[in-house]
Amino acid sequence: MSQIFLDEVGKILSPQYILVNDQDKTPYLTDWRKRYTGKALAVLLPANAVEVAAIVKLCAKTNTAVVPQGGHTGFCGGATPDNSGKQVVLNLKRMNQIREIDVANQTISLEAGCILQSIQDKTAEQGFLFPLSLGAEGSCMIGGNLATNAGGTNVLRYGNTRDLCLGLEVVTAQGEIWNGMKGLRKDNTGYDLRDLFVGSEGTLGIITAAVMKLYPLPISQWTTLVATQDIASTIALLNLFQQRATSLLTGFEMMTHESLALNEKHFPNMANPLKGNPPYTILIELSDHESEAHVKQLLESILEEAFESGLISDAVIASNLSQANSFWHMREHITLAQAQEGANLKHDITIPLSSLDRFIQETDKLMRAKYPGIRIINFGHLGDGNLHYNIAPPEGSDFKAFNLANEKPVHELVYAQVELCNGSISAEHGVGQLKLDGLRAHKGEVAHELMKAVKRALDPQNILNPHKVVSI
Ligand code: FAD
Ligand code: MLT
Ligand code: ZN
Repeated sequence: MSQIFLDEVGKILSPQYILVNDQDKTPYLTDWRKRYTGKALAVLLPANAVEVAAIVKLCAKTNTAVVPQGGHTGFCGGATPDNSGKQVVLNLKRMNQIREIDVANQTISLEAGCILQSIQDKTAEQGFLFPLSLGAEGSCMIGGNLATNAGGTNVLRYGNTRDLCLGLEVVTAQGEIWNGMKGLRKDNTGYDLRDLFVGSEGTLGIITAAVMKLYPLPISQWTTLVATQDIASTIALLNLFQQRATSLLTGFEMMTHESLALNEKHFPNMANPLKGNPPYTILIELSDHESEAHVKQLLESILEEAFESGLISDAVIASNLSQANSFWHMREHITLAQAQEGANLKHDITIPLSSLDRFIQETDKLMRAKYPGIRIINFGHLGDGNLHYNIAPPEGSDFKAFNLANEKPVHELVYAQVELCNGSISAEHGVGQLKLDGLRAHKGEVAHELMKAVKRALDPQNILNPHKVVSI
């Protein structure tokens, strides 16, 4: 069957876009974290939706599973094939055309393989902001962002990828092309197919293009780092900023002392400009379309109020763009520092803000009691209630041995606390293969069965990214 597939796919793509040699396939078979490595019959590089549709039709005919792939930066192994060597990887990087920037409608229509950073740059040239922003923006692609419903650092003001999406073009499991490329802000014609495909991680359809919202580019931005002593005051600070700055508040990120210590270990030039290693360092950003002076004045008055009410103990306002960028680099380098340190155990969770303090206090206590010396690399998009509550073994210990022995109980401990606080075990990274069991255990029986029913209805042959998100 595999030779039949390869012969037939040769009628759809030219040979240079069908990778079958190990050396050519290797870069597509291991995820960014190097946690998953799979095998593939072939890696296919289509140039347009018609080619994608023809490939998926062939997959359906030959019962070949297909793993859609963008930048392969996902954290849950969703874009990595299994070990059978029978699946094909369909990487969309050649589909990187911007079809249209519609100035009057404030939208962009683009292909799934466009790299996020290039979208930000291209739209900025025309005076627009494309607000999706995350550490992997130099290599992740909009198709992958949509398929994972990625979050990032601007969700507080602009929402996640789902909120930015108005229309999609999708190749179905039967190899049909659904054209939903309408840039409409209202469309109540029955079930929302777009929302079904967003966040489905390649298990229901292959996203080939999208219409996304654009916003006016802010003209002034002020960034500050502040020190807080505990989570209760950090949340009070968030509420204060929300009340005073309202929609001008575009970033509210939290980094613990332990996270920044790891940063400094691997990137010594990323020292925290706040003195005395505060327990929590908060990065806050205000953006506006009015003058620089207006935003700065607002920021200073809120910080003054925060000092007076004892919510913060120190603050540094970035004096220029390069210092503001260095604050953001410090935040974004935590993920890179963790990767250098060794394979950590990741938790990407959301907790209602009202329970966040309780969650951290209780989970920290349980974790430290059970695993003495453990490092809790807790940081994240606190404004969204989204913590990256990552766990690294004690300094100097063997990561592999620790993870092998403790991965399951560590996840169980965290997820039990998440459940007690009515939170979610995946805030923005998705499910992939990493959280397949977690989803089964924590989504709830009814919701899990409904998800399986949707998968069966849309992909009855189970050829689209099987055993990711849900197993049927
Ligand atoms: P991939 O990893 O290639 O794929 C992800 C999933 O989507 C897979 O299941 C794949 O099968 C599916 N898929 C890909 N393309 C398509 C398509 N066209 N159609 C259908 N399915 C498809 N994530 C956040 O949410 N917030 C962050 O702040 C964040 N920060 C990060 C920082 C770093 C340094 C790194 C390495 C990653 C970070 N991520 C973050 C995770 C990751 O970048 C996002 O999940 C991103 O959206 C994945 O895009 P990708 O193109 O790399 O997708
Ligand atoms: C980030 O926000 O930097 C990533 O999503 C977090 C992570 O590395 O866990
Ligand atoms: Zn994140």
